[in-house]
Amino acid sequence: MTSSPRTFPEGFLWGSATASYQIEGAVAEDGRGPSIWDTLSHTPGKVMNGDTGDVADDHYHRWPADLDLIKDLGLQAYRFSIAWPRIQPDGSGAVNPKGAAFYSRLVDGLLDRGVRPVVTLYHWDLPQALEDRGGWTNRDTALRFADYATHVAGVLGDRVEMWTTLNEPWCSSLLGYASGIHAPGRTEPESALRAAHHLNLAHGLAGRAIRDGLGEDTKLSVTLNLHVTRPDNPESAADRDAIRQLDAVGNRIFLGPMLDGAYPKDLLDDTTSITDWSFVQDGDEAICAVPLDVLGINYYSTSRARRHTGDGPMEHADGHGDTGFSPWVGADDIEFRQQPGPYTAMGWNIDPSGMVELLTDMGRRYPDLPLMVTENGAAFYDTVAEDGSVPDADRTSYLHDHIDAVGQAIDAGADVRGYFLWSLLDNFEWAWGYDRRFGIVRVDFDTLERTVKDSAKWYSRLIATNQLPPV
Ligand code: FCB
Repeated sequence: MTSSPRTFPEGFLWGSATASYQIEGAVAEDGRGPSIWDTLSHTPGKVMNGDTGDVADDHYHRWPADLDLIKDLGLQAYRFSIAWPRIQPDGSGAVNPKGAAFYSRLVDGLLDRGVRPVVTLYHWDLPQALEDRGGWTNRDTALRFADYATHVAGVLGDRVEMWTTLNEPWCSSLLGYASGIHAPGRTEPESALRAAHHLNLAHGLAGRAIRDGLGEDTKLSVTLNLHVTRPDNPESAADRDAIRQLDAVGNRIFLGPMLDGAYPKDLLDDTTSITDWSFVQDGDEAICAVPLDVLGINYYSTSRARRHTGDGPMEHADGHGDTGFSPWVGADDIEFRQQPGPYTAMGWNIDPSGMVELLTDMGRRYPDLPLMVTENGAAFYDTVAEDGSVPDADRTSYLHDHIDAVGQAIDAGADVRGYFLWSLLDNFEWAWGYDRRFGIVRVDFDTLERTVKDSAKWYSRLIATNQLPPV
């Protein structure tokens, strides 16, 4: 007996996601100022093969054809980010009209093609001028961000389907300021926690600024990369406590202020040797908790951890790269163990059950807050067949199983409203440069030619039918 294919709720939103620095290129054009990712990628040894985002996918020039692709694939929504240094080249002051015009054309181009624009205000390209004044460790950056958000809201206004303040503030703060694998590449644990707070504050201030500018009906969200970490030995109280600690510094450091209006007490206790958190001022947490319409969740894989027993060297298989400095501030005795495969080209284990667990857990914790998967996808070393096609069956199978997992979470009661596949195009994958391909559309980085991969055709069928096609 064949069972009927999984069907998604009516109105479920299907899209794909990208980010400005990863695709745009044109880094010195039309008045764009430098960002912290320009600086980091031009620093020898920081990005694999010395790759930079100088050209990337040249989306800044090729956007009309890219939007045609989006339309042809049948995507209903497109999640992209705005490069702050295009809007305000040095992070403050007047709007750069040419930068604003680019995004205005992009939004109109999407609407003309019947695609709903989902805007992320910050996907990691902080104006370098602000980093020179302390970056996210400087409280003023949060205020600058609210100004920037006001400007963008003024330019794009009600043409936007949903506003997302920040993408993965955990990466911006803990990977940017503690492990240093991401820009600005600093390795200062106290700065990382300070940065995390200022990102929370930036979210709250910007969210309120957008609502003030565009009215209460504006849809507001934030996107978090919530970690699903399992105890190495579920029977061990020490391992279970390690998971609690990682949940605090990995997840609740943002969920707490943003959704509960307060930092979790255990996080403050776990980090007393690093900071007294005096950078959190009276009233800040209430600002951070701006009411949201949607919580965006990015999910790729799981991890497994334990309290280190003191014997032998520690494994650091957390999937976030290894600089010799941990992003897990205050958790130096927690070890991330290598997980069983299969793996993607990132070395991340493939485990769709983590998607089910995360969505159902968040649905339970925040029953009134609709969820959206704002990123999910996989890097593989694709090959181009003789006929020019890209038969990326491993990616299609990953997508199938993870989208099925979203369906399972919905069945279990999670209010998931949409799914955005990462990514539309092969692009600049941060510290891994162009070596890791996440796209459902191949980009030849010599010619910049685009080729629709088999996974994209499969995803198109899913969207057209709202049913999960077999693989
Ligand atoms: C996420 C980022 C995104 C992309 C994917 C693979 O952490 O938000 O830009 O790099 O991972």
